[in-house]
Amino acid sequence: MDNNDYHSLATPVPMSSANNVESAIPTENDRHPSLTTIRPRRLRRTPGLRRMVRENHLTVDDLIYPMFVMEGENQKVEIASMPGCYRYSLDLLLIEIAECWNLGICAIALFPVISETQKDDTGTESYNPEGLVQQTVKAIKQNIPEIVVITDVALDPFTSHGHDGLVDESGKILNDPTVEVLVKMAVSQAAAGADMVAPSDMMDGRIGAIRKALDAAGYIDTAILAYSAKYASAYYGPFRDALDSAPKFGDKKTYQMDAANAKEALKEVALDIAEGADIVMVKPALAYLDIICQVREATNLPVAAYNVSGEYAMIKAAGKLGWIDENRIILETLTRIKRAGADLILTYFAKEVALMLK
Ligand code: PBG
Repeated sequence: MDNNDYHSLATPVPMSSANNVESAIPTENDRHPSLTTIRPRRLRRTPGLRRMVRENHLTVDDLIYPMFVMEGENQKVEIASMPGCYRYSLDLLLIEIAECWNLGICAIALFPVISETQKDDTGTESYNPEGLVQQTVKAIKQNIPEIVVITDVALDPFTSHGHDGLVDESGKILNDPTVEVLVKMAVSQAAAGADMVAPSDMMDGRIGAIRKALDAAGYIDTAILAYSAKYASAYYGPFRDALDSAPKFGDKKTYQMDAANAKEALKEVALDIAEGADIVMVKPALAYLDIICQVREATNLPVAAYNVSGEYAMIKAAGKLGWIDENRIILETLTRIKRAGADLILTYFAKEVALMLK
């Protein structure tokens, strides 16, 4: 075999471009097939080896626990379509949060269950300084000051029609008048002591308006977790049961995104970043892993993903039926959301996972 023959066999991928040092370093593609077999399984052989080469790790630090608060005392009501999730009255919520904190959960996202009598067309209760959310935030901050409290900014728990914004006679969702209410709501939550406000409403321009208002009111350290790419999704069904907040007419497709779109998600993310978001979010998570991945590529800000109620309900239902190994599915699911690029995951599994990871 002369030198030339050998060369043509040995280098299926040319190493060439001599002045480029990196391309001169042989890769596994440059190995001669007869000299070595590439055996990826070597690094999977034992648990220790697998741990060494594991690329992503799910930790309790990644988890944000969404929790539901209701009026009253000594109340703990399970949500039918979300087994294992409860609406708590404030007294019991504080006990539950303390337990979560002791398990290592460092952040909660708070959602209120508002009685029908407190709802109106414009959601005025949302910015009541003595409202349920505001009182709850104050109480949490008195009891467990270090836990990160994230409050929801959207009108749907507070409006009689169940939409996230104000509605005109024709049923149109009004953008700018809604933003004015959201701003009041966010400022009142910051005043109560929220560490982070999380607009989940999808009105245009609300991140910038909220940032401006927070700063003007002196809440320069209150962060904004923006629901940037939030899709109009059937996966929110159980959450709307939890809050009794399903829209009374129409749907949310004129403000939440079309499930078929990806480029638009990047546009929404870019806008929210330009307007001052500290963290951007993709929601839901599982059917939108491609979006999480693209958003991860597009920004250096932390990326959050919301493992929503419908995703939770599907796993719980199949687990109850004994059709899947629930605990393994939970860990696999959350790890794959991380692998897609999420730094943070809002998930109703947070407490269970904190227990599993202990
Ligand atoms: C509403 C809101 C929704 C969720 C969080 N905030 C529902 C919706 O947009 O209708 C869904 C969360 C979940 O399904 O777990 N602003």
